[in-house]
Amino acid sequence: MLPKRVEEILNLQIKKEDYSSQLYLSMASWAENKGFEGVSSWLYLQAEEERIHMLRLIKYVNERDGIAVIPGIKTPPVDFEDVFVMFDKVLAHEKYISGSINEIVGVCIAENDYTTQSWIQWFVTEQIEEESSVKAIIDKLNLLGKNNLYMFDRDIISMRGGGEVSAE
Ligand code: FEO
Repeated sequence: MLPKRVEEILNLQIKKEDYSSQLYLSMASWAENKGFEGVSSWLYLQAEEERIHMLRLIKYVNERDGIAVIPGIKTPPVDFEDVFVMFDKVLAHEKYISGSINEIVGVCIAENDYTTQSWIQWFVTEQIEEESSVKAIIDKLNLLGKNNLYMFDRDIISMRGGGEVSAE
């Protein structure tokens, strides 16, 4: 049985992963409309990955006799200025998510829930990977500069980290 506080914070995380998925979907759609085929593919895949993160949490909460709450959809922004600004927003969002995963670890410790504390480690590692892959994208973007966005768009898919895509 999950401690109440752990169940609550995991449900909050379900909401955040769902929003991450919607946010990246909105960014993917924006990039597609701007003609950035590679960037939009990267973001569509990222949106899928975030949905899998949400599913992973839902299944865990239910497995531990908690009740996973399926969140309503909050509309993400629709305009992201340019790819530089957009990837800065992706990085800021991932840092925010890393912070909330750390909070979950803190609550698990406070509640003596060592099972969830050990289970959530997958997310701790995943966040390190996600932040570092977005940082690599920003570095490449800055290196190529705004006159080489075509090249950047062509190369971005090859920069995807091999993140797991299964909720099992
Ligand atoms: Fe599921 Fe990118 O955090």
